[in-house]
Amino acid sequence: MYRNNPHPVHLKDYRPPEFLIETVDLCFELDADRTRVEARLALRRNPAATRGDGDLRLDGEQLELESVAIDDQLLTPAEYRVESESLIIHRVPDRFTLTTRVTISPSQNTALEGLYQSGDMLCTQCEAEGFRRITYFLDRPDVMARFTTTLIADTERYPVLLANGNPAEQRTLDDGRQLARWVDPFPKPCYLFALIAGDLRAVEDRFTTASGREVALRIYVEPHNLDKCDHAMRSLKQSMRWDEARYGREYDLDIFMIVAVSHFNMGAMENKGLNVFNDKYVLARPDTATDQDFQGIEGVIAHEYFHNWTGNRITCRDWFQLSLKEGFTVYRDQEFSADMGSRGVKRIADVRLLRAHQFAEDASPMAHPVRPESYIEINNFYTVTVYEKGAELVRMQAALLGPERFRRATDLYFERHDGQAVTTDDFVRCMEDASGCDLGQFRRWYSQAGTPVLEIEGHHDAESATYRLRVRQHTPSTPGQPEKAPLHLPLALALLDAEGRELALRLDGEDEAAPAGTRVLELREAEQCFTFVDVPEPPVPSLLRGFSAPVRLRFDYSDVELMFLMAHDGDGFNRWDAAQTLMQRLLLRLVEDPAAVIPESFFAAFAQALDDRAGDPALLAEVLTLPAESYLGDQLAVVDVDGIHRARCTLERAIGARLRDQLLAVHAAHDDAGPYRLTPEAIGARALKNRALGYLLAAGDAEGLARCIAQFEAARNMTDCISALRLLVDHGGEAGLEALSSFHTRWSGEPLVLDKWFSVQATSPRPDTLARVERLMRDPDFSLRNPNRVRSLIGAFCNANPVRFHAADGSGYRFLADRVLELDPLNPQVAARLMRALVRWRRFDAARQALMRAEIERVLAAEALSRDVYEVAAKALEE
Ligand code: TRP
Ligand code: ZN
Repeated sequence: MYRNNPHPVHLKDYRPPEFLIETVDLCFELDADRTRVEARLALRRNPAATRGDGDLRLDGEQLELESVAIDDQLLTPAEYRVESESLIIHRVPDRFTLTTRVTISPSQNTALEGLYQSGDMLCTQCEAEGFRRITYFLDRPDVMARFTTTLIADTERYPVLLANGNPAEQRTLDDGRQLARWVDPFPKPCYLFALIAGDLRAVEDRFTTASGREVALRIYVEPHNLDKCDHAMRSLKQSMRWDEARYGREYDLDIFMIVAVSHFNMGAMENKGLNVFNDKYVLARPDTATDQDFQGIEGVIAHEYFHNWTGNRITCRDWFQLSLKEGFTVYRDQEFSADMGSRGVKRIADVRLLRAHQFAEDASPMAHPVRPESYIEINNFYTVTVYEKGAELVRMQAALLGPERFRRATDLYFERHDGQAVTTDDFVRCMEDASGCDLGQFRRWYSQAGTPVLEIEGHHDAESATYRLRVRQHTPSTPGQPEKAPLHLPLALALLDAEGRELALRLDGEDEAAPAGTRVLELREAEQCFTFVDVPEPPVPSLLRGFSAPVRLRFDYSDVELMFLMAHDGDGFNRWDAAQTLMQRLLLRLVEDPAAVIPESFFAAFAQALDDRAGDPALLAEVLTLPAESYLGDQLAVVDVDGIHRARCTLERAIGARLRDQLLAVHAAHDDAGPYRLTPEAIGARALKNRALGYLLAAGDAEGLARCIAQFEAARNMTDCISALRLLVDHGGEAGLEALSSFHTRWSGEPLVLDKWFSVQATSPRPDTLARVERLMRDPDFSLRNPNRVRSLIGAFCNANPVRFHAADGSGYRFLADRVLELDPLNPQVAARLMRALVRWRRFDAARQALMRAEIERVLAAEALSRDVYEVAAKALEE
């Protein structure tokens, strides 16, 4: 715990390690209260290191040290020094074996970092710096070693003993305990170490790789969850096939294991050969998981599997390079999901996330580049900027190179850097070397924080039959980076004629026109002009197609043009985006003037979209989804919490009332009675039907309410069930309370479903929500020790219920600060994530600013704060 001012770590201070570790032999005598760990490390001086003081300094935290030996000679306490975060040994030889023995306590570990207990099992989480809570080590990703792991445990309690690599030995000891040994032949940094011990069952399958290797696949869960693993296993096999087809990457061990754990700080972890998952991203049955849950599982299984090459075989030199593995792997899982489902809908979902969270982060005191320059606590940098913006940088490079050259570049990357710990710059160099493209300017994207703004103006000249686009870019300043330079980016666009057809584009000076369709222009300057010739009529430009760069686009479209794009743009993403812009405009008008009239043309455009029988229901459901309150707030100089909520309610109500018959028809038409299917069509139909129901209930429609109650009672899948429950809680009065109680009775034995029960209540805009959340904190099912539960109640209230969290009396802020202070001593990582809900305090009105600021100050003044929470709170107040 840190009173104040813990020291930041800087990228510019990076030095190669003074020692390297060749092999690691670990032996665990597992016990929930006292686990003994023996570590034998084969160390040698790094010839590439700049020489330091010659001492060996190992990382270690919360370890009870029993003994230290060099080349099997026990050291006396005078020969080493133990500090709170390290073990220092003086005058070591150039090459030696170090053996340490320590004791740790998994059952006392509430931070869920290192070795900890979840239910009755023992498991580990080592990324980023958790291995140092298991044993003394050089806990940095550029130290890669070959690990052998021996596990000894009580046979009854822990019949299953797993670690990284291939199984090497299993036997019963004379004392009745069980021993299992695992050997991982691939050198890896210690953050990829994992072990599991528990009474688990496995779903098994096999996979034959492209070159004919046989791989055993196993998903380990608690016995009662065996019937919820089918989708995860299917997703795993699809991921393995896809990585072979798209990137030529095969799996490399004899076995690949996934373990589902119910106490987990994040989504999942890519430990070599032994991925450990938040059970939320493994377990699913149609009656317990929503379509979104199923998609989340598919994406996260793929993400962790893909890390085997982008993260494990090739890893990060230091934690500033985190996006090397995360940005690239997110890009890979996004493309995988696009290929498995609906590409257009996947892109919309990804951009929604980027705009709602990453743009907001870029505009906050926590703004940082994709490759940060400094941190106090690295766990605070597993952010949407590093992950999602990082993925956009890879996507832009793929677009600039084109598919063939991009594949050549990734082939080169895998070949050149296999087995190494490298930098984002090494990645970009492969993109350049394989393609001949100059990405010198593009590199700025990695070091410059902030969301660029593209301002585009179009001018048609009838006489010369030309259309000129003037493009200007600028990036607003961010903390520590007042000046910004122009960026290199791909601008994908088309020009549409009056019928919506794409023109064949010829730039002034070119000999012939490119074929009709999307064209990618490259921007590099602060201001650039592009003149298209042979354009006799004024076109409507379709700009930034597929969201070709992570920027805010400004173009002065008329409402009529937006409706035209919404109906005719050949780019599905831009059709959706035009609808979003239109709705956003209307909503912001309603914020300013609650009595503003909603134009007829708006209802007509909406009605036309609803009528489009041939259209993709999933895309239509997206088109019909109003921009989120938080995203609307982002568009205003001062966030008007209540005005935005009111405007959104007004518009929802108006749509529900005006288009009632059509919405009822859409709801009926998509009410699927057959077996549950997970195709894009079926998912789209459910999404559309539930959107329609949402508008009807917002309008207080009696028939809608009756249908909602019927849907809740008859639902055979969780998507329909939870959509109906949510609407009943928000709009159904007594019916909502009854539904909550029957839902609770039915699902009291399924923690992941109970999480939904908590969330639905925490996110309700009803005025009594905070009181209800406070009551739920005392529910016997609530526990601060389970991160999923914390997120489903506290996280949901603070991040997904703006109108109640930002209550004018400050009660939401006080509630959050109290929870942060309560949780910090138990689990700093999760506490720091919650704390983020306050960092954007400067975006609100003066009264709320004062209230939020006071709560941040109260947190900072606390007796003992973790580095995690300290960093977030301190940055929130920086000028
Ligand atoms: N590397 C993991 C991923 O990309 C994320 C991760 C980092 C993580 N730190 C963690 C997961 C701590 C769980 C706990 O999926
Ligand atoms: Zn990852």
